[in-house]
Amino acid sequence: MKQINAVNDLLSFIQLIKQQNKTIGIVPTMGSLHSGHDSLIKRCKKENNITIVSIYVNPNQFNNKNDFLNYPRTLDADINRLKTLNCDILFSPSDKEISKILNPNFKLKLGNLNKYLEADNRPGHFEGVINIVAKLFEITSPNKAYFGEKDLQQLLIIKQLCLQKFKNIQVISCATVRNAGGLAKSSRNKHLTEKELIIARSIYKVLNEVKKNKLDWSVKKAKDYVRKYLNNLSINLDYFEIIEIEKFSFTQEINTNCNYYAMIAVTIRETRLIDNLKL
Ligand code: PAF
Repeated sequence: MKQINAVNDLLSFIQLIKQQNKTIGIVPTMGSLHSGHDSLIKRCKKENNITIVSIYVNPNQFNNKNDFLNYPRTLDADINRLKTLNCDILFSPSDKEISKILNPNFKLKLGNLNKYLEADNRPGHFEGVINIVAKLFEITSPNKAYFGEKDLQQLLIIKQLCLQKFKNIQVISCATVRNAGGLAKSSRNKHLTEKELIIARSIYKVLNEVKKNKLDWSVKKAKDYVRKYLNNLSINLDYFEIIEIEKFSFTQEINTNCNYYAMIAVTIRETRLIDNLKL
């Protein structure tokens, strides 16, 4: 595996790859890699000649300074993991290198996607994500880019970014990877104690309970159930909503013709976790 830190070195490498007519896949990450990332990287390796993984903890997408400072950083372990996965290129730029890439000069039409849930709870978060992902797309010109379904709202926004601005890039969505108890893999799980890791399994459990009862329960009943269940476990519910995915709109009623997702964000002590389930 080649580790590249400088934007100019990456640009020269990409030029060479393109001259050889090889396809490029990118997996953008903030490091602290886990088996969820492994699944994206393995798929990327299967579908492209060259796999680039980027590791950059992007300060602009954190609306909370402590969250940024405490974000787990495990570069040595990440490098070993990427070598085992036979990743071709690790791009791990400094802030200074990232600042050499011009800020993208466009506004996306995102409608509800940049209004509700994560957008509402983390002001400026998606602007930060779009900025860094657009920069990475600009300098790597990938054929395909890989993102996990755990961050569903982010995934839908990046699909819009490609539809509106990077039409040649195909966004590949990859299923959420969960541990044996159902907890979605996340770098933030590293902040949880053994006991909290067990409690956190109830996030997936309540989502499944809602799915099981989707035709019998009103949305209000589902919301009350989720809030009470998590409250009893001292899990702080940031939001639980059922959204219709095409319009990314809240629904009060489940209609069998539409495509619904249960979306949840919770805080356990100081760790914020999100998850979702297709109903
Ligand atoms: O999902 C993430 O890890 C980040 O939001 C991303 C896409 C790497 C942008 O910093």
